[in-house]
Amino acid sequence: MRSVPALALAALAAASVSVSCSDGPKPFSKAALRGREVFLKHSEPKCGTCHTLKDAGTVANVGPNLDVMRPSREKILRSVQQGVGVMPTQKEVLKAGEMEDVASYVFEAAGRTP
Ligand code: HEC
Repeated sequence: MRSVPALALAALAAASVSVSCSDGPKPFSKAALRGREVFLKHSEPKCGTCHTLKDAGTVANVGPNLDVMRPSREKILRSVQQGVGVMPTQKEVLKAGEMEDVASYVFEAAGRTP
């Protein structure tokens, strides 16, 4: 019976890490928190395969560093929906709402972690 509380604690710890790991000035919106999961888990190929974004803990140089670029939300949404250059569209992979969420996340996260 001791394994149940241990598991519950582990789940709690994991949840709090994913929600509150940033010391940013302003808490993320709900859309951005959902978008973080899209960035890290649901996009395919994953955004972090190609982009550096400190908040997400990704380092890659195929595409521009999002912390440096700090793109507008519109620009992010457009690139995810339509693709840009060699960056593939995610419209076959993500739902419309997921693309909105990941745009909110990148917009709120870019440049946020020093
Ligand atoms: C296979 C690699 C790859 C993946 C995966 C990828 N990107 Fe990109 N991304 C690129 C490249 C390369 C560019 C630069 C394209 C250019 O300017 O020609 C780019 C550009 C961008 C831009 C700037 C667009 C502009 O108008 O200049 C944004 C914002 C962006 N990516 C966000 C994302 C997000 C969010 C995801 C995940 C949903 C993602 N990318 C997934 C490679 C990738």
